[in-house]
Amino acid sequence: MPSVLRSRHRPDMRWSGRDSAIAAAIFAAVAFVGAAVTVGFAVGHYGERTTTVTVQSAAAAAAPASPSPVPVSASVAAGAHTFVQFACSQCHGERGRGGVSPDVPALASVGRALTVATLTHIIDHGLGESANPTKPYMPVWGAVISTTQVRDLVAYIRAGLPTVADTQPVPIPRGQGQAVEGAALYVRYGCINCHGPNGLGGVPNPLSADKSIPPLSGGGFHHDFPTDKAIAAVIRSGSVIGKAPIVSMPHWGGVIPPQDVQALIAYLKTLK
Ligand code: HEC
Ligand code: HEC
Repeated sequence: MPSVLRSRHRPDMRWSGRDSAIAAAIFAAVAFVGAAVTVGFAVGHYGERTTTVTVQSAAAAAAPASPSPVPVSASVAAGAHTFVQFACSQCHGERGRGGVSPDVPALASVGRALTVATLTHIIDHGLGESANPTKPYMPVWGAVISTTQVRDLVAYIRAGLPTVADTQPVPIPRGQGQAVEGAALYVRYGCINCHGPNGLGGVPNPLSADKSIPPLSGGGFHHDFPTDKAIAAVIRSGSVIGKAPIVSMPHWGGVIPPQDVQALIAYLKTLK
């Protein structure tokens, strides 16, 4: 079945230097030239591999929390909003402070450790070892997020992810039915950025076979994903359709609680 095959395609971006001692040693070797080096190359369709190798520092001490808004540049402020809009905060925690999943790093110190070029590359191309379908990886955003938005995200991360006013994610109405919760979760987790309003699809993914990210409504979707179980499985595991920078379905297992996955499915089933 096509859907089963697709849901088995794992991203294969292999993260080298995940071991902190290796990362520290590699970073030390490049630190004096003043740049962390990113070498990304990608293979990976139907069992081939996507490999992204990024050299970074070992984690430095977390930046101190700044509870009240501080004056920031327009670019940093825009980055703070984009960080929420694209659900970076749903995986990396509010202001990148972590705490969501042991498999998703905090970003508090990464702005000091990594260069603009490296951060830009990670956001555009994704990162992570994800042969294991039970673990999240850093999604590929290059085709979805504009150059300006990526620049603002990088500015925000390099500024230490300060508190910026009015950046709360959309609230989730509780006790009003699963579909109502799911509609808000669809925005909060940024599904809408890739799958469009009402799950209509059409968001460009130029290097993929379909040239766009699929809809989550309509006959084709219901044919390929006829049961709640099938939909839940692809939300949890993600689905990789080719080498970065092709955008693939992120892995949300361990990030979105099971009851929220059910609410998302209830919402999707209300769509055309
Ligand atoms: C579905 C969860 C998820 C989402 C959404 C997500 N990330 Fe990530 N991100 C990860 C994971 C997992 C890693 C770690 C990858 C690895 O090293 O194996 C990561 C790594 C990173 C890194 C490198 C951190 C380091 O210490 O090496 C940066 C920078 C980053 N993400 C920024 C972002 C930004 C900006 C966004 C929003 C546009 C975002 N992430 C959205 C899961 C996510
Ligand atoms: C970064 C972009 C991105 C985000 C964010 C995203 N998806 Fe996807 N999603 C994709 C892509 C690309 C595919 C197609 C994967 C494939 O064809 O194997 C996909 C596939 C799916 C599918 C299977 C449909 C199909 O025809 O393959 C479902 C269901 C789905 N996504 C639900 C969601 C939900 C729910 C969210 C929010 C929690 C979400 N997605 C967030 C990119 C994204």
